[in-house]
Amino acid sequence: MEFQDVVRRRRMVRNYQDRPLPPGALDRILANATRAPSAGFTQGWAFLALEGREQTEVFWSHTFDAGRRSTFAHQGLFNAAALVLVLVSKQAYLDRYASDDKAGTGLADESRWPVPYWDVDGAFAAMLLLLTAVDAGLGAVFFGIFRGEGELLAALGVPSAYRPIGAIAIGYPAPEDGPSASTRRGRRPQEEVVHRGRW
Ligand SMILES: Cc1cc2nc3c(=O)[nH]c(=O)nc-3n(C[C@H](O)[C@H](O)[C@H](O)COP(=O)(O)O)c2cc1C
Repeated sequence: MEFQDVVRRRRMVRNYQDRPLPPGALDRILANATRAPSAGFTQGWAFLALEGREQTEVFWSHTFDAGRRSTFAHQGLFNAAALVLVLVSKQAYLDRYASDDKAGTGLADESRWPVPYWDVDGAFAAMLLLLTAVDAGLGAVFFGIFRGEGELLAALGVPSAYRPIGAIAIGYPAPEDGPSASTRRGRRPQEEVVHRGRW
């Protein structure tokens, strides 16, 4: 697929067919995530992939209680063939920026970071996951984990240094899936958000 088509086609898909991913798709999606840029090439991320009903149920059972699940607006989300937790380690960045070639930045001290690059790097990687899913003819959605994070990470054996910036569901879009209500806000015009030369 042309890159411009991948960018234009990407949208968040919240309802999926009950259908497995094509062979190799998840491997390629995960491999591309590791091509993301990272501050100091720290690569302080981890991607925990769950594929197939048995594995994805571990995620849903910890993050959605029965009541919330039965009333959730997008029931087709639970059909997603795969889920990827995008995890980042803040400590990996503090350690990296305390090393000899970075010590001059003073960023071994967390309070001196202008923005949390661990979250920035996780977001860059997440975008590559989303775009690669589209390129593979699939749909995907990035979403936050609002409940059950601690229990989920314990159940999956995630080391305590890692926290999720969110999760990505991947699968074949269901025919009934449509754009989210939020998109009715409309895309802000270029003239409003792009500034050239000066604001
Ligand atoms: C940081 C972030 C968090 C998001 N969290 C959620 C979420 O929890 N649930 C959800 O359905 N969509 C979530 N979205 C998707 C946005 O609603 C969506 O990207 C936006 O409405 C634009 O639609 P589009 O991506 O389909 O073009 C999130 C997107 C981002 C970037």
